[in-house]
Amino acid sequence: MKPVFVFLTLALTLTTANRKISIGFNPGCAGLSGCNGPNPASKLLYIKSEGDCDSIHYVWTFNQKSIPTLLILESSNNASVVSIDWQSFLHIFNSSIHGSIRLKCGKQFCEDSVLSSSVYVLKSIIQYNDTKNNADITDKGNLYVSSYDLSNLNWNISVSQEVNSFLVEGSPYNQTGTFSKDGKLIMKFTTKDKSGRGPLFPHLPYNDQSSMWEIILTNLTTAFVGSRFALDFLVVNPENVSFSGQKTSLSKTVKKITKWSIDDEYSPSVFTSQQILWVNISSERPSSYWLWRTVCYTNVTPSRAFSSDVQTTNLVLINKTTVTGLESNHLLLAIFGKSVIDKLPFKRFSISFGKPDDGFYRATEYLSWTSLVGVGEPPADSLSLMVVCIIFAGVGCPVLVILFGAVYLVVRRCRKHRMQRVALLSNYEPIG
Ligand SMILES: *[C@@H]1O[C@H](CO)[C@@H](O)[C@H](O)[C@H]1NC(C)=O
Ligand SMILES: *[C@@H]1O[C@H](CO)[C@@H](O)[C@H](O)[C@H]1NC(C)=O
Ligand SMILES: *[C@@H]1O[C@H](CO)[C@@H](O)[C@H](O)[C@H]1NC(C)=O
Ligand SMILES: *[C@@H]1O[C@H](CO)[C@@H](O)[C@H](O)[C@H]1NC(C)=O
Ligand SMILES: *[C@@H]1O[C@H](CO)[C@@H](O)[C@H](O)[C@H]1NC(C)=O
Ligand SMILES: *[C@@H]1O[C@H](CO)[C@@H](O)[C@H](O)[C@H]1NC(C)=O
Ligand SMILES: *[C@@H]1O[C@H](CO)[C@@H](O)[C@H](O)[C@H]1NC(C)=O
Ligand SMILES: *[C@@H]1O[C@H](CO)[C@@H](O)[C@H](O)[C@H]1NC(C)=O
Ligand SMILES: *[C@@H]1O[C@H](CO)[C@@H](O)[C@H](O)[C@H]1NC(C)=O
Repeated sequence: MKPVFVFLTLALTLTTANRKISIGFNPGCAGLSGCNGPNPASKLLYIKSEGDCDSIHYVWTFNQKSIPTLLILESSNNASVVSIDWQSFLHIFNSSIHGSIRLKCGKQFCEDSVLSSSVYVLKSIIQYNDTKNNADITDKGNLYVSSYDLSNLNWNISVSQEVNSFLVEGSPYNQTGTFSKDGKLIMKFTTKDKSGRGPLFPHLPYNDQSSMWEIILTNLTTAFVGSRFALDFLVVNPENVSFSGQKTSLSKTVKKITKWSIDDEYSPSVFTSQQILWVNISSERPSSYWLWRTVCYTNVTPSRAFSSDVQTTNLVLINKTTVTGLESNHLLLAIFGKSVIDKLPFKRFSISFGKPDDGFYRATEYLSWTSLVGVGEPPADSLSLMVVCIIFAGVGCPVLVILFGAVYLVVRRCRKHRMQRVALLSNYEPIG
């Protein structure tokens, strides 16, 4: 009975239709001045991934003079859609912008169907001079730190519906600071409709509730001999605040964890991954995640020879008076409203790239880093068959040798005993 059941579930999972994914650029905004022309003020991407019994919504904004921001929502209703009231959304200084992005199921608002929500803000690029050549951005000896705010970039977006992906290239309006004529921050975001493994190093495993997020820093201008770069992110710890800004009794928190693996077959000599998890405080179950292997690549074609290190600083609650740009962010204003943004517990961390003695950023002028965002439990990096074989060879063989050895010794001892007994007996001559 049981094998049949297992076979049936297997057959069922194999034949289940993939999720339906659609990508829209400024969807429903035709005709309004802020959305038209070759370089509109509003650059909003909406990706919906519809499954059997849930839907995942990704909303990215790359608006002019605004920091790139991503909202991820999972709803238990697979027919839900993110609806945008464009008239209000485009007017950032009008308080009616709050509530201009909402979740709808048919004609009704349905934020009560939200299972998880998370917000990511791509704040700035940090440049520092690695005086001690230790690739440690937290080292107080590494002076000369400068930060380039990403609201100064102009984003050129291209969408590929065929591969459920979009590519965005950020370059400055005016060539200044970190950015030269050819300097670019490039992002590629691909939403997955089934499970698998990334085609390129570090071959991250993904599932149908996740999206691959790749960032490339190319041709940046180095201000120092030992310049290295880092990306500065903010995440919202949405404790007790639901999407749409009302207080709820949810109790969630954001934390960072590091995971070790003994398996490096898919990303040679990289044994750690890091995860930002949105967890339910009482059950510790993640509802949303962002993860990466601690590796980046310094060549257009990632390979082991061109791999470098990734360091992540701790997640710390920020003091909002020291961070600019949040109150003028279209997406945050639309979801939470100005008064709630001021109370939201944002946490900050940075990802820095490079390793000691690699010649610094100027040696290659190229960095690519791949991560995965999604909802539910992060996809587990299961042990590959090869590693299982190696473990068997490493642990199994000695055990077998010891076992066979023991059996052999026992058998030999028994035979010796018997022979001794036979020999003993043969010394006696039968009487008679
Ligand atoms: C969404 O749910 C409906 C009804 O349950 C189902 O018919 C439909 O196939 C689902 N959509 C997808 C993409 O699975
Ligand atoms: C704000 O938006 C509302 C509704 O869109 C509109 O009626 C009102 O005139 C706007 N106020 C200002 C100051 O623009
Ligand atoms: C920057 O770092 C490099 C390499 O470690 C060092 O040679 C140089 O003196 C530093 N420059 C400044 C201005 O500190
Ligand atoms: C955007 O990119 C496309 C193709 O990569 C290019 O043809 C176009 O000129 C770019 N637009 C701007 C405003 O940079
Ligand atoms: C870019 O340069 C132009 C003039 O060349 C200037 O008008 C504009 O304000 C500058 N933009 C920024 C963001 O500095
Ligand atoms: C970097 O700039 C050079 C020219 O200065 C260009 O040939 C090269 O393609 C650029 N690299 C990337 C990845 O765009
Ligand atoms: C969130 O709600 C829980 C219980 O509902 C409460 O214990 C906790 O103090 C609240 N946290 C904040 C930041 O309001
Ligand atoms: C958090 O976990 C508790 C205990 O498992 C559960 O009762 C509660 O519904 C969970 N809350 C959310 C938002 O998932
Ligand atoms: C936040 O920063 C401001 C200005 O630096 C300071 O006055 C204030 O005390 C800080 N607040 C907290 C909670 O640290």
